[in-house]
Amino acid sequence: MRKKIVAGNWKMNNDLAETQELLSHLKMQLVKEPEAEVMVAPAFTNLYSAFQGLKDTPVQVVAQNMHQAENGAYTGEVSAKMLKSIGVDTVILGHSERRAHFGETNEILAEKVNSALKSEMKIIFCFGEELADRKSDKHFDLVAKQLEESLYQISEADWKNVILAYEPVWAIGTGETASPEQAQEMHAFIRKNISEKFNDEIAQNVSILYGGSVKPANAKEIFAKEDVDGGLIGGASLKAVDFVEIINAF
Ligand code: PGA
Repeated sequence: MRKKIVAGNWKMNNDLAETQELLSHLKMQLVKEPEAEVMVAPAFTNLYSAFQGLKDTPVQVVAQNMHQAENGAYTGEVSAKMLKSIGVDTVILGHSERRAHFGETNEILAEKVNSALKSEMKIIFCFGEELADRKSDKHFDLVAKQLEESLYQISEADWKNVILAYEPVWAIGTGETASPEQAQEMHAFIRKNISEKFNDEIAQNVSILYGGSVKPANAKEIFAKEDVDGGLIGGASLKAVDFVEIINAF
């Protein structure tokens, strides 16, 4: 059975003290054994302290990005080895904000995917169409292309370290959510696509999260859909009570 996962992407929010405060609220409010795996992605500067502070809890700490090179003259960047050395073994790759503001193309993302998996890291691979793609009915083609160009070069064995996050760009931080039916339709398409390119076992076992304005009021309905295995949560993960309500929506 595939895993249910709720991951909070804190983006460039919260300094050290704010991160620690949010984590202590989260720890207080979280039931001991949530049905879903819980992950949080603080900023790089707060990863180490978050990892230390969450050691005795089921909450996993993940990074928001990494560089594809092993090391070298890449000022301002962070490698897989650096992340692993502080206990972080999962990384979000391909978030639409990285694509839009930092020039991450499908080609660069393929390199990041390969580098992370080679370093034995798990990845949360994000992808999704823009509003114009959906309006012109190109959303399925666009998503298939993102997967083909950045992810499908991996081996069958690598899939155990892959989590997918379908995030329609028009729904991120906009308050506009894909309907549960739209999410289900795309998730089923993704699974079918993986089944055709790889095999049905891989397609059935990979967790596919939905992301884009998930909040306590809509999480239950979205998570109830057959092919939706959880969520990647931005804004609503910055408030412990909302995030916990979303975690408990399973
Ligand atoms: P949002 O962000 O929940 O604030 O829409 C989701 C994401 O960017 O992963």
